[in-house]
Amino acid sequence: MQKTGARREAVLHLLEELGGVTEDNVREVARRTLVSEAEVWGAGTFYTLLKGGPRVRVCNGLSCRVRGSDELAAELRQSGKQVEEVSCLGQCDRAPAALDESLNVFDKARGPRGITPDNPGLAVNLGGRPDFSFAALKKARAMAPADIFKLLEESGLQGRGGAGFPAHIKWKGVASQKETERYVVCNADEAEPATFKDRETMLRRPDAIIEGMAIAAHAVGAQECHFYIRGEFRAEYESVKAALKRAEADVNFVSWYFHQGHGAYICGEETALLESMEGKRGMPRLKPPFPHEYGFRGKPTLINNVETLACVPWIFRHGGAAFRALGRAEAGSKLYCISGHVNKPGVYELPLGATLDELVAVAGGYDGKPKAFSPGGASSGFLPISKSNTPLDFKSLAKEGSMLGSAGVVVLNDTVDMAKAAQWQLEFFEVESCGQCAPCRIGSRYLHRQTTKYLKTGDPGALKHAADIGWEMEEGSICGLGMVAAKPLESAMKYWPQEFTKR
Ligand SMILES: Cc1cc2nc3c(=O)[nH]c(=O)nc-3n(C[C@H](O)[C@H](O)[C@H](O)COP(=O)(O)O)c2cc1C
Ligand code: SF4
Repeated sequence: MQKTGARREAVLHLLEELGGVTEDNVREVARRTLVSEAEVWGAGTFYTLLKGGPRVRVCNGLSCRVRGSDELAAELRQSGKQVEEVSCLGQCDRAPAALDESLNVFDKARGPRGITPDNPGLAVNLGGRPDFSFAALKKARAMAPADIFKLLEESGLQGRGGAGFPAHIKWKGVASQKETERYVVCNADEAEPATFKDRETMLRRPDAIIEGMAIAAHAVGAQECHFYIRGEFRAEYESVKAALKRAEADVNFVSWYFHQGHGAYICGEETALLESMEGKRGMPRLKPPFPHEYGFRGKPTLINNVETLACVPWIFRHGGAAFRALGRAEAGSKLYCISGHVNKPGVYELPLGATLDELVAVAGGYDGKPKAFSPGGASSGFLPISKSNTPLDFKSLAKEGSMLGSAGVVVLNDTVDMAKAAQWQLEFFEVESCGQCAPCRIGSRYLHRQTTKYLKTGDPGALKHAADIGWEMEEGSICGLGMVAAKPLESAMKYWPQEFTKR
């Protein structure tokens, strides 16, 4: 049984190694893994990076669109390049972003990019030097798991991957399982448009991620730690790998493994990620059971986001109360990504609960007259600039009908048509829906097409069923993608109704 699982786990990796999905490669992978050709084909065709063939990838995420990605794609096509437009490249601070045939970033950024300078008082401290003393890990390994969970609870650390789930509850959940084969997984798939904080953390502070994972493994009794790193993040993968080599003597009480994504946004969703780690299509699982009970290889698994794990060593060095005090109404400092119409896009670490105005002040100010912002990736919809004083934290944004999500903030100025902005976001959800459940598969397509129809004809009748469809998607979808996919349109229609009346 274990052997069959291990062979299946190799399917995607082998397809990538052989150069992508072709008839010959599928046959070869089926021969080597003993997984049927149909299943290899089915798994491989789910992922854009396994399509095979060289091409330039141009990002058409929101930040890239407002900075001219359509023009860049046209320019590259005219120069004879094979161009593929993709939903997100995690390079919004370099908008309009593109990757060459070898997945290297074209640096087309028009202005400076920013990062918070060194400040050891911040939990992640991207500007600081990596610290391989692993003093926090040494301290944690001398502590009983129950004391570790208490410390985490005192710190108030909430997951930074999107949902803000309290870390101590998840860690305890894994530790309390009867099954003793357990895993820790670092979710480094970061593909939510507007989000690139995990990218910077992997490049600048891989030490903190590794130390956080090792502490987690000790606390929950896991034997293996796994990274799942977004496939386009080659430099980030190398950075973490090199750091792990340096850390080896301190963290070799567990085994370490790497998985590289193959180009599918949905694999950031934790159960889709597990399916992908097991060599399958990245389709989210029905929950419950949750990963802490039934995760990787069906065993208890702790899945945390890069930033969540990178906060952990600071908590052990400075204490739970000190971490809590870094935030405002909610605990800790937070990595905010900001892009779009600001002068210095980048990743800035501020108290959790900072406002948009504070964030933009450190990001070089607004570019043009601000009109709207999207506070937490495509899934968070849009808010009018009059709400720029809302604390950017989980509860305050939920009260506004939005969400902090992955804290990928995009500012739009008054040159942007909100119906067009909604259409761009809907296109993202249509393309990235895994297609498993009808409300999301059909709803995301319907909303995108009807908004496109409205933009073409100017007839508001095209959108008369939008609210009902949005409700059905929220109620009937299996995972978070379908549940929120209507948000960009709903919020744009709510705050800018004049942009949805007859054109
Ligand atoms: C559609 C979708 C995409 C997601 N993408 C990511 C992602 O790229 N990175 C991430 O850490 N979490 C992502 N999540 C959240 C994960 O499912 C999961 O909650 C998270 O990894 C848990 O870690 P945390 O508790 O440290 O936040 C996504 C969720 C959904 C519904
Ligand atoms: S909601 Fe969408 S992305 Fe999620 S499982 Fe259903 S079809 Fe797939």
